[in-house]
Amino acid sequence: MLNPASIAVQRPRESADALQAAAGESAFGRDIEAALSHTPRVISPKYFYDAQGSQLFDAICDLPEYYPTRTELGILADHAPEIASHMGPRAEIVEFGAGSLRKVRLLLDAMEQPARFMPIDISGEHLAQSALDLQRDFPGLDVQPVIADYTQRLLLPAPLAGAGQRVGFFPGSTIGNFTPSEALHFLQVAGQVLRGGALLLGADLVKDPAVLHAAYNDSQGVTAAFNRNLLARANRELGCDFDLDAFDHSAFYNAPLRRIEMHLVSRRRQEVSLGRQRFAFDEGEAWHTENSYKFTIDGLRELAERAGFRAGAVWTDENRLFSVHWLHAPR
Ligand code: AVJ
Repeated sequence: MLNPASIAVQRPRESADALQAAAGESAFGRDIEAALSHTPRVISPKYFYDAQGSQLFDAICDLPEYYPTRTELGILADHAPEIASHMGPRAEIVEFGAGSLRKVRLLLDAMEQPARFMPIDISGEHLAQSALDLQRDFPGLDVQPVIADYTQRLLLPAPLAGAGQRVGFFPGSTIGNFTPSEALHFLQVAGQVLRGGALLLGADLVKDPAVLHAAYNDSQGVTAAFNRNLLARANRELGCDFDLDAFDHSAFYNAPLRRIEMHLVSRRRQEVSLGRQRFAFDEGEAWHTENSYKFTIDGLRELAERAGFRAGAVWTDENRLFSVHWLHAPR
């Protein structure tokens, strides 16, 4: 089993003041402090993805129980020619999140003269490397990374002269991390930057809860390590003293809300420090670290239409585990 604690980068001991200051300076520090200060405790899953968390997520994608990545890749590979013909010649792809280049490569390989690829991500480092890798393999493609938080309002470069339609790409069911109202807001913002074009959206589907449960409770404990990486990261970056073994990984399907919830559950009564502050956890107290909403095909199409899109083609696998949607952006 992968253990993030064993590969933690050790930093020199810093004073409580310096660590307190460090905590206040970063969005991560501020949000950890806010989460610890409120009950029930809850934090955004975006903080899973530091370098180690991103590695753990890549490992999750290869797990036998974690069907979404391989299923979506299969759908994209099986339908790449049809998807590419929806895009038309000289299209521009805007990817929300600098995710797995494997997915966008399937599209680019099938497209007729793709004009430009614009990955949008908050992390500049990850973005620059992904952009370089892709540029090497597609020398004729204009690769234009955009450092931005795509959950906020977005300004993108004007379309290239002679470019075809602008197509957003949001794979992986990352949309499932948003609450329904956040997802609606995201789609409204995306609709504005994709005006006249389309959005290619990957969404995980509701299914047998046992299949969902296994995907988030893998036998090798990689998902547990990914969940605990939140604590490991707080130890590394903020000088916290979380005992990773004192928190259980809990992931379950909340059927009425159609979402997987992940929590970190305190095994005992304990205190942790952040700078000079101490925070208590009760025995059994849960810290809500992620929601992963599941969709029905019709539900997703209705959500997109409420955001101003017109729902088009839907591609799915033979077991209906995962869906990929073509959504026409507003004019
Ligand atoms: C990247 C949000 C799509 O919800 O399945 C995987 C993250 N969390 N295992 C998901 C995740 C636990 C993943 N998304």
